[in-house]
Amino acid sequence: MEAALRQLLNELETSGQENDAREPERRKKMLNLDPATAHLISILIRSSQRRSLLEIGTSNGYSTIWLAWAAKANGGHVTSLDRDPDKHVLADANLKRAGLRDTVDLLNGDATERVKALEGPFDFVFFDADRTSAPAQLSLLQPRLLPGALILADNALSHPDEIAPYLAAINVQPDFDHTIIPVGKGLSLAYKRAD
Ligand SMILES: C[S@@+](CC[C@H](N)C(=O)[O-])C[C@H]1O[C@@H](n2cnc3c(N)ncnc32)[C@H](O)[C@@H]1O
Repeated sequence: MEAALRQLLNELETSGQENDAREPERRKKMLNLDPATAHLISILIRSSQRRSLLEIGTSNGYSTIWLAWAAKANGGHVTSLDRDPDKHVLADANLKRAGLRDTVDLLNGDATERVKALEGPFDFVFFDADRTSAPAQLSLLQPRLLPGALILADNALSHPDEIAPYLAAINVQPDFDHTIIPVGKGLSLAYKRAD
C-alpha cells in the first residue's frame, strides 16, 4: 500500500477512536473496524481475486477504503451502504481523499430496503451494520451470491447474543463452510462452496 494511503488510514484510525471516546451518542460514533481485521479482510479479497463486493455499514468509509483498495487491485468494485446521511457524506469525502471514489458506489438508506434493490451478483459480502437485521439481508442476498462467495460479519465474539441469529442463519446453510476468526471483535467467515 502506498505511504499516503497508509497515512490516511492511520489518521482515520486515530480520529475515529478519539471521536468515539468523546461522543456519547452511539449514532455519532464511527465504530471503525479493528485495523488487524481490516488488514486481514483486504488480504482475503486480494488473494482470492474478489471483484464484486458489498459492504453493509459504511460509517465514515474506513473499512470501505480497505475494501476498495483490495478490490481495485483485482479490477473490482465495491457497493457500500449506510442509513446515516452524515456518515454517507464523510465516507464520500474520505474515499475521495483516498483516490478510491470511482471504485465505490455509496448508497444511503436502510440496509434491508437497499439490499432488496441490489442486482449483484456478489462474490464478497461484509456485514458490519446492526447485527439484528443481518439475517433478513442474508436471506435477500442468497440468490445473488456467486458460487465461491465469501460472507463476513464483524462482532462475532464481542456481541454473541446479538449476532446469534445471524450465525444460526449461516450455520443452517448446507453449502456454507463457516468459522469464526478471533481477530479484533471476532470475524465470522463463511464460504459458499463452489462445488
Ligand atoms: C460498526 S459501524 C460500520 C463501521 C465501518 N464498517 C468501518 O469499519 O469503518 C455500523 C454502521 O452501520 C450503520 N447501520 C446500522 N444499522 C443499519 C441499517 N439497518 N441500515 C443501514 N445502515 C445501518 C450505522 O449507521 C453505522 O454507520
